[in-house]
Amino acid sequence: MYEVLTLLSLITIGLSGLLILTGLVLIKLGKREWHKKAMLTASFLALIFVILYLIKSSIYPPKKYMGEHKELYFFILWSHTILAIINFPLAVYTVYLGLKEKFEKHRKIAPITAMVWIYVAVTGWMIYFFLH
Ligand code: HEM
Repeated sequence: MYEVLTLLSLITIGLSGLLILTGLVLIKLGKREWHKKAMLTASFLALIFVILYLIKSSIYPPKKYMGEHKELYFFILWSHTILAIINFPLAVYTVYLGLKEKFEKHRKIAPITAMVWIYVAVTGWMIYFFLH
């Protein structure tokens, strides 16, 4: 069960990050409808990730890092956790602005959201590799 939850978490956060990258390329190409689809799917997958994460951490205690790069590990773990929390309201607001067609504001905040999102996805995978 632990392994299944971990694998599903990695897949959902990874695909979510890749879809954000795809969405960025799509909007640069002027494909607004496809940008919207990619970003909404990325948001849905991120939500699944959060649910899986909450289930996992309510059943199992956190895994301890036993390697030699403790400082680097904790920097990545903490920055990942803090930015993941910040990303939640950022994402909700960015999607809201997009759906309400407030594109002027959307264009200002969305690059920050996208960067934070990708950082959280990449560091999520890094933490997995640190622990395994
Ligand atoms: C996680 C959610 C989203 C992120 C991270 C995101 C990211 C971005 C970014 C970075 C840009 C600016 C591109 C540039 O200036 O070159 C942009 C523009 C745009 N986004 Fe999103 N987006 C998201 C969701 C949505 C949604 C749900 C819609 C729904 C319609 C949408 C519609 C648009 C449109 C139409 C533009 C072009 C605005 C313009 O050029 O005036 N976005 N988005």
